Amino acid sequence: MVERRRRYCSCSIHGLSLPLLLLSFFSFLRLHASFAATAAAAPPLRLNSTQESILRDLSRGERIAGWNTTASNPCLWSGIVCSPSDSTSFSAVTGIALSGYGISNSSVFASICALDTLLYLDLSRNSLADLGYRFLGPSCSMKEGLRSLNLSSNQLAASLADLSGFPRLEVLDLSFNHVRGNLSTELGRFPQLRSLNLSTNGLNGGVPTSMVLSLEELVLSGNHLRGPIPPGLFAYADLVMLDLSQNNLTGDVPDEFWKLDKLETLLLSGNGLSGAIPGRLPNSTTMSRFAANQNKFTGSIPSGITEHVKMLDLSYNKLSGKIPSDLLASPVLETIDLTSNSLEGSIPGNFSAKLFRLRLGMNLLTGSIPDSIGDASKLAYLELDHNSLTGSIPPRLGECSELALLNLASNGLHGQVPDQISTLEKLVVLKLQMNNLSGSIKSAFSSLTSLSILNLSRNSFTGEIPQSVDQLSKLSNMNLAGNKISGPIPPSVGSLQFLIELNLGDNSLTGTIPKMPVTLSTSLNLSHNSLSGSIPSNIGTLKELEILDLSYNSLSGTVPTPPDLPPSLTLLVLSYNQLTGYFQAPPHVVVSTTGNPGLTTASGTDGDGIPSDGKKKNHAVLITIFAIVGALVGLCLLATVIMFSLSKRIYRVEDIGPPPEQVLPQIINGHLITMNSIHTTAIDLSYAMEAVSSPANIFLKTRFCTYYKAAMPNRSIYSVKKLDWSDKIFQIGSQEKFGHELEVLGKLSNSNVMVPLAYVLTENNAYLLYEHAYKGTVFDLLHDGRSDGLDWPSRYSIALGVAQGLTFLHGRTQPVLLLDLSTRTIHLKSMNEPQIGDIELYKIIDPSKSSGSLSTIAGTVGYIPPEYAYTMRLTMAGNVYSFGVILLELLTGRPSVSDGTELAQWALSLSVRPEQREQVLDTRVSRTSVGGHSQMLSVLNIALSCVSFSPDARPKMRNVLRSLVNAK
Ligand SMILES: *[C@@H]1O[C@H](CO)[C@@H](O)[C@H](O)[C@H]1NC(C)=O
Ligand SMILES: *[C@@H]1O[C@H](CO)[C@@H](O)[C@H](O)[C@H]1NC(C)=O
Ligand SMILES: *[C@@H]1O[C@H](CO)[C@@H](O)[C@H](O)[C@H]1NC(C)=O
Ligand SMILES: *[C@@H]1O[C@H](CO)[C@@H](O)[C@H](O)[C@H]1NC(C)=O
Repeated sequence: MVERRRRYCSCSIHGLSLPLLLLSFFSFLRLHASFAATAAAAPPLRLNSTQESILRDLSRGERIAGWNTTASNPCLWSGIVCSPSDSTSFSAVTGIALSGYGISNSSVFASICALDTLLYLDLSRNSLADLGYRFLGPSCSMKEGLRSLNLSSNQLAASLADLSGFPRLEVLDLSFNHVRGNLSTELGRFPQLRSLNLSTNGLNGGVPTSMVLSLEELVLSGNHLRGPIPPGLFAYADLVMLDLSQNNLTGDVPDEFWKLDKLETLLLSGNGLSGAIPGRLPNSTTMSRFAANQNKFTGSIPSGITEHVKMLDLSYNKLSGKIPSDLLASPVLETIDLTSNSLEGSIPGNFSAKLFRLRLGMNLLTGSIPDSIGDASKLAYLELDHNSLTGSIPPRLGECSELALLNLASNGLHGQVPDQISTLEKLVVLKLQMNNLSGSIKSAFSSLTSLSILNLSRNSFTGEIPQSVDQLSKLSNMNLAGNKISGPIPPSVGSLQFLIELNLGDNSLTGTIPKMPVTLSTSLNLSHNSLSGSIPSNIGTLKELEILDLSYNSLSGTVPTPPDLPPSLTLLVLSYNQLTGYFQAPPHVVVSTTGNPGLTTASGTDGDGIPSDGKKKNHAVLITIFAIVGALVGLCLLATVIMFSLSKRIYRVEDIGPPPEQVLPQIINGHLITMNSIHTTAIDLSYAMEAVSSPANIFLKTRFCTYYKAAMPNRSIYSVKKLDWSDKIFQIGSQEKFGHELEVLGKLSNSNVMVPLAYVLTENNAYLLYEHAYKGTVFDLLHDGRSDGLDWPSRYSIALGVAQGLTFLHGRTQPVLLLDLSTRTIHLKSMNEPQIGDIELYKIIDPSKSSGSLSTIAGTVGYIPPEYAYTMRLTMAGNVYSFGVILLELLTGRPSVSDGTELAQWALSLSVRPEQREQVLDTRVSRTSVGGHSQMLSVLNIALSCVSFSPDARPKMRNVLRSLVNAK
């Protein structure tokens, strides 16, 4: 950000350059925000009476709640910047930044427009739906001199054609609004423009080329732009940053990007571009990032393309041929992602010493892994999975001591795993499954003490599982299935206190089954071994276990019955053992007991049948209803088609075209999840679909979702959330699978969680229906100015509610994690009844398949835990971090990021000395009551532990909730 600001350095006013003004503006804001008390020591600023009264009008007329205008000198109000004055001249108002005050009324411009000395106006993160006649009309004299206008994250549906009269505007940020339309003719009105950001709006048409030629930054990502990249773009020789990602662009990429020799960042990701990757990138030594992932590029990767590039992403294309020998060697290269292409040949052996992330998975690469990989000593992520690599794992890989993730799965690697691998102390994920690796597993892995996921399945490992396996104390998933491992299962397995999945199936294990860790939840699979003895009587202590497979062993004795079986079981496989006695399978569990001659089971539950229960019957009823409704709809459609073609035949017999295109999206799958008759009778999915076809019904837009209001035939109102899953970050396995996930989520019941009642899936979108109880988000409540009225008891009850919801979600047998947990995703049912939204996102956005780091997709800036920058995994500890930021927002009244500083970092740094903690709290509420004040300090301690840098140091939600309840 600061870098970006520094770039605008050519214009000057009264001998001061704009960047200096902007910089001083920002430093002023920071001073003002953090050390308001000391700001008074700045040189005196005096406004003339006209300007002073304009500012007073602004503060009075609009009652921008939460805006601190207590200082007697308006130049000292937060967000106001005045130029310096001396004894002979007055100050002038040069900057106004009122970001995140919930301003919704365009009448603010009545005052602002009169400030003709204004250079900088930031009204981002407010709720402006239109700009109003005062701003748009010619009488707004402020526009004449304005250099920078930030209206990002409002609800503006304006067309750019309305904006005019900005002869000097250099920076225009309209990102995250509802700006629609075709830009081609509307951008010429800003003759001085250098930076234009229209990201995430509803723009359509082609990529515009009608801007002023001196443009330096153009961000058009996340729109509906179509067509090819126009050659006209290459006339913009000053472009430093060009972002066209996440649109619908098609066609070849012209080979002329090299002409833009000031370009630093070029982002073309997530389009339908085809043809070859341009062979020549700008020669400039500043070109540092090029992303063309998730397109349809073909041909080979041009050599020399990484000469100056630090970050290259060409993943998820159709590139073929060999990896050029110089590609990985460029000394500046830091991250390169070529995942999921058709690249062949071997991996070139020269590596940049700065290489941090190397992803070559899902290609057709052959040959062995070069031993010189050890030169890449900064490497933290190495993914070479799903190729045809052969040879053995090079010992020098042990020199990559920063490795956190090593994925060599699904190749043809053989030989022993070199001892050097065991020195990789930072390794968190080790995936070597589906190779031909051999040797004893005894020595190699027990010193990898950070390991969380270990997958060695389907290799030829031998030897015994070492007793020292408990030194891998962070293990959550261990899969050793399909090897030749022998000997007993060491009892120390029982002390792996994070283990949720253990698969030792298909080996040669002997002895009895030891006590297993109670954390096991996903599955315990010991099948296809030679285990003997009986099923441990304490197996019922595995309270969260869902799948238990003990088949194909020599287990004897009787089968425990409830309550001595794990209560969460859904699948129990006991076939082909020597079990005896009588076994009555519990309801809801699929059981297989075949091949146990001595075992008698209650008839009807044996075999691999699916037990019937009431819910299934209800489903059957529903399915029938849907079939009938579907048939009726079908009949109506058919009738329409017939009538239409009849009418055509009557009037224009020769033209028998296709039936008329349906205006509403084609419903592939629609389903009620709820069983509550109030909803089942009220909800009519076709009404919901009609509602989403009109933008007028939008009431909230978040990063991934758009919310609509839908009135049903009986006039009750529901919220409909639209997910645009044609967006390539969504990794939908199948419609059916997603439907199933939603059914599972729909069964959750907690008053602090937004649970879907019904859904409709169409080709490009998923629509989820919820009760409509929306009173804004916690973000709105805190930062739109109304927070003045929000006392501590209300904030505390919001914190409790969110903690309850989150504890509930984390406590599921299959914990529900949140991809994006922030005050913007928490809806308010009433002033202090919060509900956590977007619980389904983590099921459909697969960060490991994305091109960037997890932090580029997961969540909202300010809430993202630091480790997400290098792990590709959502975790409960990560959610706890985000929750900590929410607590801090409630305590401080500040947004998660202000002036480029993250709230968590700010609070941590101020809290080093306990006596300073006072300053963190929102004095508007902490001063009002003594009791509230001490409780706020206790909650602050909880918040600070939640935002600990190390994930391990953060408490579990259960404990957070307990501490919150007890905070006095
Ligand atoms: C408002 O600003 C003044 C100084 O400009 C400061 O003394 C005061 O503490 C601030 N009030 C709040 C509630 O932040
Ligand atoms: C506009 O405001 C948003 C949100 O406050 C901020 O993230 C963005 O960087 C600003 N844009 C510019 C060009 O400063
Ligand atoms: C481990 O590898 C197996 C294939 O052998 C795969 O099915 C499983 O999903 C992998 N598990 C993890 C946690 O990577
Ligand atoms: C358990 O593991 C074996 C061997 O890997 C596999 O064949 C079987 O399908 C697994 N059982 C379950 C229930 O997944």
